Amino acid sequence: MNLHSLIGDARVVGIVDNQFGDTGKGKVVDLFATEWADVIIRGTGGANSGHTTYFKGQPFFFHLLPSGTPYDADGKVNVVGRGVAFDPAQAVRELDLLAARGVVVQHLKISHMAKLVLPFHVVLDRLKDRGEGIGTTGRGIGPTYVDHCARIGLIVNDLLNPDVLARKLRRNLEDKVSRLQHFGPEAVQEVLVKLGWSHYHHPRKYFDCDAVVAAYSALSERLKQFICDTDSVVQRALTQKKRILLEGAQGLLLSIDHGTYPYVTSSDCSIRGLAHGAGLRLRDVDATFGVTKAFYMTRVGAGPFPTEFGGAQSVAWCANPSTTKDREIEVYGRVLVNHPDPFHQGIGIRQAGNEYGTTTGRPRSTGWLDLPLLCYAQTLNGPRLILTKLDVLDECETIKICDSYEYVGPPHRSGALQLHSGAILREAVVDQDVLQHCRPIYAEFPGWLTKTSDCTSFVDLPEKLQALIRFVEQQTASEIAAVSVGPGPSQFIVQEKP
Ligand code: IMP
Repeated sequence: MNLHSLIGDARVVGIVDNQFGDTGKGKVVDLFATEWADVIIRGTGGANSGHTTYFKGQPFFFHLLPSGTPYDADGKVNVVGRGVAFDPAQAVRELDLLAARGVVVQHLKISHMAKLVLPFHVVLDRLKDRGEGIGTTGRGIGPTYVDHCARIGLIVNDLLNPDVLARKLRRNLEDKVSRLQHFGPEAVQEVLVKLGWSHYHHPRKYFDCDAVVAAYSALSERLKQFICDTDSVVQRALTQKKRILLEGAQGLLLSIDHGTYPYVTSSDCSIRGLAHGAGLRLRDVDATFGVTKAFYMTRVGAGPFPTEFGGAQSVAWCANPSTTKDREIEVYGRVLVNHPDPFHQGIGIRQAGNEYGTTTGRPRSTGWLDLPLLCYAQTLNGPRLILTKLDVLDECETIKICDSYEYVGPPHRSGALQLHSGAILREAVVDQDVLQHCRPIYAEFPGWLTKTSDCTSFVDLPEKLQALIRFVEQQTASEIAAVSVGPGPSQFIVQEKP
């Protein structure tokens, strides 16, 4: 595919997610990685993200390594930047997966400054988030970044120095023990067993630090050839005018700095956070594409989601740990996307879009596209959008798009704004105490009721769908640069400029 009309002469391109993650940016990143990029960089998050990459027709499930890693033999350089929460065990698992398919990785670069995820972080994450928590992915992301900000974390460079590694691991464990005591030894052991980490268990000290040191030393042997100062690698690539792709993780609305705090992840998922975590300045980025699912959206974990189909019923169903894809089919069977009951319609759209987590297998809550939140995301990620998963709603008779809200909560002050029940909000107030009380107001449109997955150009798209795309462009002052109409790389349509 010729991506030139989309990318033009840009040398540094960022692909970010304008919603709560899972917009299908993995496919877009893959496309740009295979067809365009020389260097692919992850700058934020860690193994909490997940996407499926197709390599030689076979799916790969990646969480941590950049999407271009399977194309190592083509000389593509994949970089794990300094902003990443790096889990060495997960990296080795993904390298093993690639090796099993005959991919010998040689050009991977892992920042010596990336934050090291330790087993203590994973266990703490799982224990702290039990019950009414954030609904984290349980990959240790929050505790790793907490240690970084508290200046007690380990960095990837520590893997290169055995004595330093052992000393810092012991010190870090001392810090964790005081927090693990709160949960008690049985709870810690239970999590360790569940994770298959019984060898880390110590009856009195919670963790057998020698076992952790031994495991991390072994991981370091596997990874040390890839560890380097990636900032200088990236700066060199910039000077040499290489084509650099920044691969976003999670979504703007989950950003620690700009999302629906505290129901967020622990890194800044905006293009600014991504550039920074990759070792670049924001001004180095020539083009940013905000990937946006249309005309529905999803969320995993707790936190406000004004347009969620089925409201509290859906929240309870999706948050229940025993709800899986199979269980949902067992209980509700196959559900139509036009089901008259919103909760069931949400299930229908979840099934049609296969909206179940790649990392956790959890069902993603579904809801209609929320334009005030999209406009907010654009203030940080810019106006160029890529709309994905259009084909999911091919059979939907009515499409609703939220263009404003009615505030229905108690009197609340948010910044300079004093809110009372009944107030109409045309802009999103990204304050969870406001958003959780926002009742969406919808514009309704007839569905296009035509198969779109075979469309190959914008003019091929059904007229009703084109009208909806124009509506979104007008309402959000955006430019919809491309749309995706299926999972395959060819099901990607660039909007040619007149
Ligand atoms: P954490 O990143 O594991 O700490 O989880 C914090 C919040 O971000 C939870 O609500 C997760 O469900 C959500 N989250 C983290 N990664 C992803 C992702 O890749 N897609 C969607 N949600 C995510």
